[in-house]
Amino acid sequence: MPLPIIIDCDPGTDDALALLLALASPELDVRAVTVVGGNVGLDRTVANASALVALAGAAVAVHPGADRPLLGSFVTEPRVHGADGLGGVVLPAGPPAAAEHAADAIRRHLRGAGAPVTLVGLGPATNLALALMTEPALAAKVGQIVLMSGAWGEGNATPAAEFNAGNDPEALAVLLGCGRPVVLVGLELTAQALATPARLAELRAAGSGRALGFACEIQGRVPMSRRLGGAGAALHDPCAVAWLLRPDLFTARACPVTVDLTHGPSRGRTVIDRWGRTGAPATALVAETLEADGFFALLGERLARLP
Ligand code: BDR
Ligand code: CA
Repeated sequence: MPLPIIIDCDPGTDDALALLLALASPELDVRAVTVVGGNVGLDRTVANASALVALAGAAVAVHPGADRPLLGSFVTEPRVHGADGLGGVVLPAGPPAAAEHAADAIRRHLRGAGAPVTLVGLGPATNLALALMTEPALAAKVGQIVLMSGAWGEGNATPAAEFNAGNDPEALAVLLGCGRPVVLVGLELTAQALATPARLAELRAAGSGRALGFACEIQGRVPMSRRLGGAGAALHDPCAVAWLLRPDLFTARACPVTVDLTHGPSRGRTVIDRWGRTGAPATALVAETLEADGFFALLGERLARLP
Protein backbone atom coordinates (compact mmCIF):
# COMPACT_ATOMS: atom_id res chain seq x y z
CA MET A 1 0.00 0.00 0.00
CA PRO A 2 1.47 3.40 -0.94
CA LEU A 3 1.94 5.76 1.98
CA PRO A 4 -0.76 8.47 2.06
CA ILE A 5 0.86 11.90 2.27
CA ILE A 6 -0.02 15.57 2.01
CA ILE A 7 2.73 17.86 0.77
CA ASP A 8 2.75 21.43 1.98
CA CYS A 9 5.20 23.59 0.03
CA ASP A 10 6.27 27.02 -1.24
CA PRO A 11 7.78 26.35 -4.69
CA GLY A 12 10.58 27.37 -4.76
CA THR A 13 13.30 25.72 -6.83
CA ASP A 14 14.08 22.89 -4.42
CA ASP A 15 10.37 22.45 -3.62
CA ALA A 16 9.92 21.90 -7.36
CA LEU A 17 12.34 18.97 -7.40
CA ALA A 18 10.82 17.59 -4.20
CA LEU A 19 7.30 17.67 -5.66
CA LEU A 20 8.44 15.94 -8.84
CA LEU A 21 10.30 13.32 -6.81
CA ALA A 22 7.19 12.58 -4.74
CA LEU A 23 4.85 12.49 -7.72
CA ALA A 24 7.19 10.13 -9.56
CA SER A 25 7.33 7.65 -6.66
CA PRO A 26 4.82 4.80 -6.51
CA GLU A 27 5.54 4.26 -2.81
CA LEU A 28 3.74 7.55 -2.10
CA ASP A 29 0.07 8.38 -2.51
CA VAL A 30 0.03 12.18 -2.69
CA ARG A 31 -3.49 13.07 -1.55
CA ALA A 32 -3.12 16.86 -1.84
CA VAL A 33 -0.57 19.57 -2.44
CA THR A 34 -1.13 22.52 -0.14
CA VAL A 35 0.69 25.77 -0.69
CA VAL A 36 2.02 28.50 1.53
CA GLY A 37 3.82 31.77 0.80
CA GLY A 38 7.51 31.79 1.62
CA ASN A 39 10.18 31.68 -1.04
CA VAL A 40 8.02 34.06 -3.09
CA GLY A 41 4.48 35.38 -2.64
CA LEU A 42 1.53 33.00 -2.40
CA ASP A 43 0.19 33.83 -5.86
CA ARG A 44 3.46 32.62 -7.40
CA THR A 45 3.93 29.58 -5.15
CA VAL A 46 0.40 28.42 -6.02
CA ALA A 47 0.89 28.93 -9.77
CA ASN A 48 4.21 27.09 -9.57
CA ALA A 49 2.72 24.17 -7.63
CA SER A 50 -0.10 23.79 -10.17
CA ALA A 51 2.36 23.88 -13.06
CA LEU A 52 4.60 21.29 -11.41
CA VAL A 53 1.74 18.88 -10.67
CA ALA A 54 0.63 19.18 -14.31
CA LEU A 55 4.22 18.70 -15.51
CA ALA A 56 4.36 15.44 -13.57
CA GLY A 57 1.15 14.34 -15.29
CA ALA A 58 -0.52 13.97 -11.88
CA ALA A 59 -4.15 14.64 -10.99
CA VAL A 60 -3.66 16.03 -7.48
CA ALA A 61 -5.53 19.08 -6.20
CA VAL A 62 -3.46 22.15 -5.30
CA HIS A 63 -4.83 24.23 -2.42
CA PRO A 64 -3.78 27.82 -1.70
CA GLY A 65 -3.10 28.50 1.96
CA ALA A 66 -1.54 31.16 4.13
CA ASP A 67 0.02 34.26 2.60
CA ARG A 68 1.50 35.22 5.97
CA PRO A 69 2.77 33.43 9.07
CA LEU A 70 0.85 33.21 12.35
CA LEU A 71 2.57 36.48 13.33
CA GLY A 72 3.87 39.19 11.02
CA SER A 73 4.74 38.59 7.39
CA PHE A 74 6.94 36.23 5.36
CA VAL A 75 10.43 37.21 4.32
CA THR A 76 10.91 35.96 0.73
CA GLU A 77 14.09 34.64 -0.90
CA PRO A 78 14.18 35.87 -4.53
CA ARG A 79 17.99 35.85 -4.56
CA VAL A 80 17.98 32.04 -4.48
CA HIS A 81 14.65 31.24 -6.17
CA GLY A 82 14.24 34.19 -8.55
CA ALA A 83 11.36 36.65 -8.50
CA ASP A 84 9.02 33.95 -9.86
CA GLY A 85 10.21 31.18 -7.52
CA LEU A 86 11.57 28.95 -10.29
CA GLY A 87 14.69 30.87 -11.25
CA GLY A 88 12.99 32.40 -14.28
CA VAL A 89 12.18 29.02 -15.87
CA VAL A 90 8.71 29.30 -17.39
CA LEU A 91 6.65 26.12 -17.10
CA PRO A 92 3.42 25.51 -19.03
CA ALA A 93 0.64 26.79 -16.75
CA GLY A 94 -1.24 24.21 -14.72
CA PRO A 95 -4.99 24.14 -14.10
CA PRO A 96 -6.52 26.64 -11.66
CA ALA A 97 -5.96 25.83 -8.00
CA ALA A 98 -8.81 24.49 -5.87
CA ALA A 99 -11.02 27.01 -4.08
CA GLU A 100 -10.71 25.20 -0.75
CA HIS A 101 -8.12 26.66 1.64
CA ALA A 102 -5.08 24.53 2.39
CA ALA A 103 -5.87 24.19 6.10
CA ASP A 104 -9.45 23.13 5.33
CA ALA A 105 -8.20 20.59 2.79
CA ILE A 106 -5.69 19.15 5.26
CA ARG A 107 -8.39 18.75 7.90
CA ARG A 108 -10.81 17.21 5.40
CA HIS A 109 -8.24 14.65 4.26
CA LEU A 110 -7.29 13.78 7.84
CA ARG A 111 -10.93 13.46 8.91
CA GLY A 112 -11.70 11.08 6.06
CA ALA A 113 -8.52 9.04 6.21
CA GLY A 114 -8.81 5.34 6.97
CA ALA A 115 -5.07 5.06 7.70
CA PRO A 116 -2.61 7.53 9.23
CA VAL A 117 -1.55 10.32 6.86
CA THR A 118 2.01 11.63 6.72
CA LEU A 119 2.36 15.40 6.53
CA VAL A 120 5.39 16.64 4.61
CA GLY A 121 6.28 20.30 5.20
CA LEU A 122 8.65 21.95 2.73
CA GLY A 123 7.95 25.58 3.57
CA PRO A 124 6.97 27.71 6.57
CA ALA A 125 4.76 25.45 8.72
CA THR A 126 1.77 27.84 8.77
CA ASN A 127 -0.81 25.74 6.89
CA LEU A 128 -0.01 22.56 8.80
CA ALA A 129 -0.17 24.39 12.13
CA LEU A 130 -3.45 26.13 11.22
CA ALA A 131 -5.01 22.77 10.37
CA LEU A 132 -3.98 21.18 13.68
CA MET A 133 -4.68 24.26 15.82
CA THR A 134 -8.24 24.52 14.54
CA GLU A 135 -9.06 20.82 15.09
CA PRO A 136 -6.41 19.38 17.44
CA ALA A 137 -8.11 15.97 17.69
CA LEU A 138 -7.13 15.36 14.06
CA ALA A 139 -3.52 14.95 15.18
CA ALA A 140 -4.55 11.38 15.99
CA LYS A 141 -4.90 10.80 12.22
CA VAL A 142 -1.36 11.99 11.50
CA GLY A 143 1.22 9.24 11.10
CA GLN A 144 4.27 11.46 11.18
CA ILE A 145 5.26 14.98 10.24
CA VAL A 146 8.40 15.28 8.10
CA LEU A 147 9.71 18.81 7.87
CA MET A 148 12.53 20.45 6.01
CA SER A 149 13.19 22.87 8.81
CA GLY A 150 15.77 24.05 11.28
CA ALA A 151 19.45 23.52 11.97
CA TRP A 152 21.47 22.65 15.04
CA GLY A 153 24.02 25.29 14.10
CA GLU A 154 24.02 28.41 11.97
CA GLY A 155 20.92 29.49 10.07
CA ASN A 156 20.61 30.48 6.42
CA ALA A 157 17.95 33.19 6.69
CA THR A 158 19.50 34.87 9.71
CA PRO A 159 22.63 33.87 11.64
CA ALA A 160 20.26 31.99 13.97
CA ALA A 161 17.36 30.78 11.86
CA GLU A 162 16.86 28.42 8.97
CA PHE A 163 14.47 29.93 6.40
CA ASN A 164 11.34 27.82 7.07
CA ALA A 165 11.73 27.79 10.85
CA GLY A 166 12.48 31.52 10.90
CA ASN A 167 9.52 32.39 8.70
CA ASP A 168 6.98 30.90 11.10
CA PRO A 169 8.54 29.77 14.37
CA GLU A 170 5.18 29.74 16.19
CA ALA A 171 3.80 27.31 13.60
CA LEU A 172 6.83 25.06 13.98
CA ALA A 173 6.33 25.10 17.76
CA VAL A 174 2.73 23.97 17.26
CA LEU A 175 3.90 20.97 15.22
CA LEU A 176 6.66 20.09 17.70
CA GLY A 177 4.07 20.12 20.47
CA CYS A 178 1.20 18.32 18.74
CA GLY A 179 2.11 14.92 20.13
CA ARG A 180 2.82 13.20 16.81
CA PRO A 181 6.27 12.04 15.65
CA VAL A 182 8.19 14.83 13.93
CA VAL A 183 11.20 14.29 11.68
CA LEU A 184 13.40 17.33 11.12
CA VAL A 185 15.52 17.48 8.00
CA GLY A 186 17.64 20.52 8.69
CA LEU A 187 20.47 22.45 7.13
CA GLU A 188 23.30 20.17 8.28
CA LEU A 189 21.58 17.26 6.55
CA THR A 190 20.66 19.10 3.37
CA ALA A 191 24.21 20.45 3.00
CA GLN A 192 25.14 16.86 2.18
CA ALA A 193 22.69 16.88 -0.76
CA LEU A 194 24.95 19.31 -2.57
CA ALA A 195 23.99 19.73 -6.22
CA THR A 196 27.37 20.42 -7.78
CA PRO A 197 27.67 21.12 -11.54
CA ALA A 198 28.96 17.53 -11.97
CA ARG A 199 25.98 16.03 -10.14
CA LEU A 200 23.60 18.21 -12.10
CA ALA A 201 25.16 16.99 -15.36
CA GLU A 202 24.64 13.39 -14.21
CA LEU A 203 21.04 14.16 -13.32
CA ARG A 204 20.47 15.67 -16.75
CA ALA A 205 21.84 12.48 -18.34
CA ALA A 206 19.46 10.26 -16.36
CA GLY A 207 16.67 10.52 -18.94
CA SER A 208 15.09 12.52 -21.72
CA GLY A 209 11.66 13.41 -20.31
CA ARG A 210 10.35 16.96 -20.25
CA ALA A 211 9.93 17.04 -16.45
CA LEU A 212 13.52 15.95 -15.84
CA GLY A 213 14.68 18.59 -18.33
CA PHE A 214 12.74 21.33 -16.56
CA ALA A 215 13.93 20.13 -13.14
CA CYS A 216 17.56 20.39 -14.24
CA GLU A 217 16.97 23.78 -15.83
CA ILE A 218 15.38 25.06 -12.61
CA GLN A 219 18.18 23.70 -10.43
CA GLY A 220 20.75 25.11 -12.85
CA ARG A 221 19.45 28.62 -12.09
CA VAL A 222 20.11 28.35 -8.34
CA PRO A 223 23.24 30.26 -7.32
CA MET A 224 26.07 28.33 -5.70
CA SER A 225 25.81 28.60 -1.94
CA ARG A 226 28.32 30.92 -0.29
CA ARG A 227 27.55 29.20 2.99
CA LEU A 228 28.64 25.88 1.47
CA GLY A 229 31.86 27.20 -0.03
CA GLY A 230 30.51 27.91 -3.53
CA ALA A 231 30.76 24.26 -4.60
CA GLY A 232 27.05 23.80 -5.32
CA ALA A 233 23.55 24.39 -3.97
CA ALA A 234 21.82 22.27 -1.34
CA LEU A 235 18.77 20.32 -2.50
CA HIS A 236 16.96 20.94 0.77
CA ASP A 237 13.36 19.88 0.19
CA PRO A 238 13.93 16.69 -1.84
CA CYS A 239 15.72 15.31 1.23
CA ALA A 240 12.45 15.31 3.18
CA VAL A 241 10.77 13.27 0.43
CA ALA A 242 13.78 10.96 0.15
CA TRP A 243 13.46 10.23 3.87
CA LEU A 244 10.11 8.59 3.12
CA LEU A 245 11.44 6.65 0.14
CA ARG A 246 14.85 5.51 1.34
CA PRO A 247 15.31 5.98 5.11
CA ASP A 248 18.28 3.63 4.80
CA LEU A 249 20.20 6.50 3.15
CA PHE A 250 19.98 8.49 6.40
CA THR A 251 21.04 8.33 10.00
CA ALA A 252 18.99 10.21 12.58
CA ARG A 253 18.74 10.66 16.31
CA ALA A 254 15.89 11.51 18.65
CA CYS A 255 16.46 14.88 20.31
CA PRO A 256 14.67 17.43 22.42
CA VAL A 257 13.97 20.32 20.03
CA THR A 258 12.57 23.73 20.88
CA VAL A 259 12.24 26.80 18.71
CA ASP A 260 13.15 30.30 19.81
CA LEU A 261 10.02 32.47 19.82
CA THR A 262 11.62 35.62 21.16
CA HIS A 263 11.66 38.69 18.95
CA GLY A 264 15.40 39.32 19.08
CA PRO A 265 18.23 38.09 16.87
CA SER A 266 17.76 34.42 17.74
CA ARG A 267 14.10 34.28 16.71
CA GLY A 268 13.44 31.07 14.77
CA ARG A 269 16.54 29.24 15.96
CA THR A 270 15.88 25.56 16.54
CA VAL A 271 17.59 24.54 19.75
CA ILE A 272 18.48 20.90 19.11
CA ASP A 273 19.83 19.06 22.11
CA ARG A 274 21.76 16.35 20.26
CA TRP A 275 23.68 15.22 23.33
CA GLY A 276 20.77 15.12 25.77
CA ARG A 277 22.23 17.91 27.88
CA THR A 278 18.87 19.28 28.95
CA GLY A 279 17.47 15.96 30.09
CA ALA A 280 14.24 16.96 28.36
CA PRO A 281 12.23 14.34 26.45
CA ALA A 282 12.92 14.00 22.73
CA THR A 283 10.44 15.92 20.56
CA ALA A 284 11.82 15.12 17.10
CA LEU A 285 13.90 12.71 15.14
CA VAL A 286 16.68 14.81 13.64
CA ALA A 287 18.24 13.58 10.40
CA GLU A 288 22.01 13.78 10.64
CA THR A 289 23.77 12.06 7.76
CA LEU A 290 22.86 11.34 4.16
CA GLU A 291 24.43 8.92 1.72
CA ALA A 292 24.61 11.52 -1.03
CA ASP A 293 25.42 9.30 -4.03
CA GLY A 294 22.42 7.11 -3.23
CA PHE A 295 20.24 10.19 -2.87
CA PHE A 296 21.24 11.59 -6.27
CA ALA A 297 20.84 8.17 -7.90
CA LEU A 298 17.30 7.95 -6.46
CA LEU A 299 16.47 11.44 -7.70
CA GLY A 300 17.69 10.70 -11.22
CA GLU A 301 15.99 7.33 -11.41
CA ARG A 302 12.65 8.78 -10.26
CA LEU A 303 12.64 12.02 -12.27
CA ALA A 304 13.48 9.97 -15.36
CA ARG A 305 10.17 8.13 -14.95
CA LEU A 306 8.15 11.30 -15.48
CA PRO A 307 6.80 12.34 -18.88
C1 BDR B 1 14.36 25.99 2.87
O1 BDR B 1 14.11 27.37 2.59
C2 BDR B 1 13.61 27.52 1.30
O2 BDR B 1 14.22 28.61 0.66
C3 BDR B 1 13.81 26.21 0.60
O3 BDR B 1 12.77 25.96 -0.33
C4 BDR B 1 13.81 25.20 1.70
O4 BDR B 1 12.51 24.75 1.99
C5 BDR B 1 15.84 25.83 3.13
O5 BDR B 1 16.23 26.59 4.23
CA1 CA C 1 10.68 25.14 0.46
